[in-house]
Amino acid sequence: MPHSPKPPSPSRTSQPTRAVSIVGTGSYLPERVLTNADLEKLVETTDDWIVTRTGIRERRIAAEGEFTSDMAARAALRALEEARISPEEVDLIIVGTATPDFLFPSTACLVQNKIGAKRAVCFDTEAACAGFLFAMEIGANFIASGACNTVLAIGAEKLSSILNWKDRSTCVLFGDAAGAAVLRAGEDGHVIWGTHLGSDGALADLICMPGGGSAQPASVASVTASQHFLTMQGPEVFKQAVLSMGRSSLEALKRCHMTPQDVTWIIPHQANIRIMLSLADRLDISRDRCYVTVDKYGNTSAASVIVALDEASKKGALKKGDLVLMTVFGSGLTVASTVVKW
Ligand code: ACO
Repeated sequence: MPHSPKPPSPSRTSQPTRAVSIVGTGSYLPERVLTNADLEKLVETTDDWIVTRTGIRERRIAAEGEFTSDMAARAALRALEEARISPEEVDLIIVGTATPDFLFPSTACLVQNKIGAKRAVCFDTEAACAGFLFAMEIGANFIASGACNTVLAIGAEKLSSILNWKDRSTCVLFGDAAGAAVLRAGEDGHVIWGTHLGSDGALADLICMPGGGSAQPASVASVTASQHFLTMQGPEVFKQAVLSMGRSSLEALKRCHMTPQDVTWIIPHQANIRIMLSLADRLDISRDRCYVTVDKYGNTSAASVIVALDEASKKGALKKGDLVLMTVFGSGLTVASTVVKW
């Protein structure tokens, strides 16, 4: 899946592919802040428990009537503005989301209409928290193959819409957000050097929303049994997250002929500070090279790494030539890692 035209090693020159670059990023966070103190009033929890176990201090919650597609459209327009590309130039929009506005039509089609990207082909990809990197890799391959020139890859979630606000073991963890990246052929941007994607359906029940699909369509019984909320086996997910992101990161780096020692910044899925630091330790990457936003936004699933990447870029943390490793995992289980030369 690598598509670097100037690979770091001559062994990869045999791949007849085009370079793909990130030429703009954007993100959107809803205004409303929900603090741990606010959650103390909703469920039996404490700020101390949440901060100690997860690192989360607050998260953002979408406004009434503000949907995943609205947040995605705002992030997309910001990314296009940074790239100085008009919506009409976009060939393909891919939205990674586990909380689409509707089961169908796709959220990508709704975004297309909201931003006026009239020429674009649009679809969603469902890889839960790994959704953005899956979307970016699919888009990058459309470009590498020559099928497209300009792609919008988006990660967007309104997780507040599928949380059980009576379940303290999940409702304290998540937040709403969207992030977007504009991809273009060529090296006039931040070149994507390599990506690893993986899936393990044997672990599908670790994170799941049981109701609302064809297995358990919405019914009075499914609503009464709280089937339309996110469920998670937290401690097992924790273990799998560290293992799978560790393996995937090494795989992506190997494809670029790099090692963890070459990494300037690791931007892991922002689920839990303890997972991120365990991962950094496992890869032997200094903890202060780990970019963290989970304290402010919680786990925003598919939006998580692209929101963090956009923030790191806008704050000037990323310098030209930095090697950035993004790594994510999610329900499925899915895992993805991407190496970008900033
Ligand atoms: N406040 C206070 N106590 C709590 C809370 C809370 N919010 N939630 C759980 N507890 C209690 C539990 O009931 C348990 O009590 P008990 O010992 O009396 O039974 C105790 O705290 C410890 O619970 P654990 O689940 O063992 O706590 P743990 O240290 O594992 O932390 C957590 C839980 C934070 C969920 C952790 O396991 C974790 O982060 N897991 C990974 C989650 C994750 O990354 N999810 C990503 C999902 S990605 C996607 O695709 C959506």
